[in-house]
Amino acid sequence: MKYLVTGAAGYIGSVCVELLLDAGHDVFAIDDLRQGNRSAIESDATFYKASLGDRTVLDKVFSQGIDAVFHLAAEISVPQSMADPGLYYETNVNQGLCLLEAMRAAGCKCLIFSSTAAVFGEPATTPIDESHPKVPCNPYGDSKLSFERLLNWYHVCFGFRVHIFRYFNAAGATERHGEDRSIEEHLIPLAFAAIKGQRERLTVFGDDYPTSDGTCVRDYLHVRDIGQAHLQAAAYLGQNADFDDFNLGSSSGTTVLTVLKTIERVTGYSVPYVIGERRAGDPAALVASSEKAVRKLGIRFDYSHIDYIIESAWKWFRQTERGR
Ligand SMILES: NC(=O)c1ccc[n+]([C@@H]2O[C@H](COP(=O)([O-])OP(=O)(O)OC[C@H]3O[C@@H](n4cnc5c(N)ncnc54)[C@H](O)[C@@H]3O)[C@@H](O)[C@H]2O)c1
Repeated sequence: MKYLVTGAAGYIGSVCVELLLDAGHDVFAIDDLRQGNRSAIESDATFYKASLGDRTVLDKVFSQGIDAVFHLAAEISVPQSMADPGLYYETNVNQGLCLLEAMRAAGCKCLIFSSTAAVFGEPATTPIDESHPKVPCNPYGDSKLSFERLLNWYHVCFGFRVHIFRYFNAAGATERHGEDRSIEEHLIPLAFAAIKGQRERLTVFGDDYPTSDGTCVRDYLHVRDIGQAHLQAAAYLGQNADFDDFNLGSSSGTTVLTVLKTIERVTGYSVPYVIGERRAGDPAALVASSEKAVRKLGIRFDYSHIDYIIESAWKWFRQTERGR
């Protein structure tokens, strides 16, 4: 099968490319490298350095007979989306629409979309399942929800087969790919950078939440499990004219302090951190119910134990320039 992966030079995209190639597929990769790294693109993939808004390049890619698309390219920072909402609607909605139109013109109608827990906004119940109200409280979440809605209409109007995956926190690494962004906001790579003295102490935002140790609970999923879920969804959509959405998470969650203590145990280094004030808009717990993904698609979370997540991330980080 021929797959197109958008955002292929980014963290999760690079792992998807790796798993697709390992499974024997032909992989086409698009990324404009605004964030990702050229070195993260596997040499066996056909790479196009291009924006999703570049219809000429998209038409060229789709003329090669793409069977399915993994759509991961996006702007992903909540604070940045509050400072520059236009960038988020332009990238995550308008340029995504350009991709859908190129697919439609080429007759490619199968897509798996990376969405996010941010579409739910402040959780009313936990764990969060797919029926939870979707009331995003920032432009990032709203742009993702807008694109989810667009996809629904492409299913209804044009017969697109679509699965939407909402991940909570992707983490960990494979042997070949991990998290390596120039602007980093994710806890585990930030903690590694603090260990290495590449940044000042980490701030833990609040320790007075109603959780086991007072710090926020978040739901970490190993990036390999996320990539594998994409392959399973693609196999399902190959057989079924389906449109559906799935939350992907561990259904339990881990506190921020537990993550930091696990990092200390696994790496043998202490993580320099301070407890700061709560951050506006941070819910006490963000945990996904993956029951539907397990039941319908048979998704498994074999790698998503917090110890293994950190071991694999640390091993990968130590191979990189910043980790040596
Ligand atoms: N990392 C997480 O924990 C997490 C959680 C929930 C959802 N997601 C979603 O998963 C997807 C991938 O996330 P990630 O962590 O790998 O992000 P990332 O920033 O590492 O990768 C995104 C890639 O997309 C590229 N890109 C962005 N806009 C583009 C455009 N218009 N044209 C071409 N390339 C473009 C960037 O250069 C980058 O390489 C995103 O859609 C994100 O919203 C991620």
